[in-house]
Amino acid sequence: MKFKKKLRRICDYWGWRLRHPGAPYEQYYVHRVLAKLKGGHGHPAIGPTARPLRSRSELLDFLLKYSVRPSDLVIDYGCGSLRLAPPLIAFLEPGKYWGMDLAQEFLDLGLSHLDPQLARDKRPRLDVIAPEVIERARAEGPRFIVSWHVCSKVPENRFDAYLGNIVRMMTPGSVALIHFPETEARRKLTGLAWAIPRSLFVETLPRLNPAVTCEFGAVVEGVVDGIRQSYAILRHP
Ligand SMILES: C[S@@+](CC[C@H](N)C(=O)[O-])C[C@H]1O[C@@H](n2cnc3c(N)ncnc32)[C@H](O)[C@@H]1O
Repeated sequence: MKFKKKLRRICDYWGWRLRHPGAPYEQYYVHRVLAKLKGGHGHPAIGPTARPLRSRSELLDFLLKYSVRPSDLVIDYGCGSLRLAPPLIAFLEPGKYWGMDLAQEFLDLGLSHLDPQLARDKRPRLDVIAPEVIERARAEGPRFIVSWHVCSKVPENRFDAYLGNIVRMMTPGSVALIHFPETEARRKLTGLAWAIPRSLFVETLPRLNPAVTCEFGAVVEGVVDGIRQSYAILRHP
């Protein structure tokens, strides 16, 4: 990153932090993305200019590998503006898709671009992440939790909180699939994104729920610039 750009990012963060001394980091992410959208700059993953990196049906395709059924309750944790959700919503029975994200604005954008007939027929549930939402989801026993292109946006000191919410929603028999860019050691990719080593999952999980097991798979094969596109497979026995 160029020096000037780096300096601007640092000033932006600390200016925001001074204005919001008690706010969690996640609100800074929201602030940055909303500023981009309101400034007329498109965002690659959120809003009208969002495009999938690979396929629009990637979430559904991965869940099918784990034998998802239309009657399963699926949580899309960090669903953004539903970029990858429509094929999954169409597959699931009404009310079985539950998207969660940091900001109501992102969810509203998603709903405004969803086919109205699909929205009417399948009644996707959309909520801003909050402790009571996590508890409500846990009480309903989701069979799957997917979190795609989200983990990379989580800084080191918020990883426990992020993974903690996912693990909290898991009940016996549930499976969580978490995409992350994988490197040998934690590496900053952009101002708002990091690649992490898989060991972070292995070290963190016992603190959250020692019963939950963890394996890893490849979203795509191969390594580019030292980065793998991996996903963690968490299982609650
Ligand atoms: C790159 S977008 C991906 C959205 C969607 N999963 C997709 O693939 O289209 C990242 C999303 O993660 C959400 N996010 C960032 N940090 C998060 C956190 N700590 N917990 C939950 N969601 C988070 C953001 O609000 C944003 O909607």
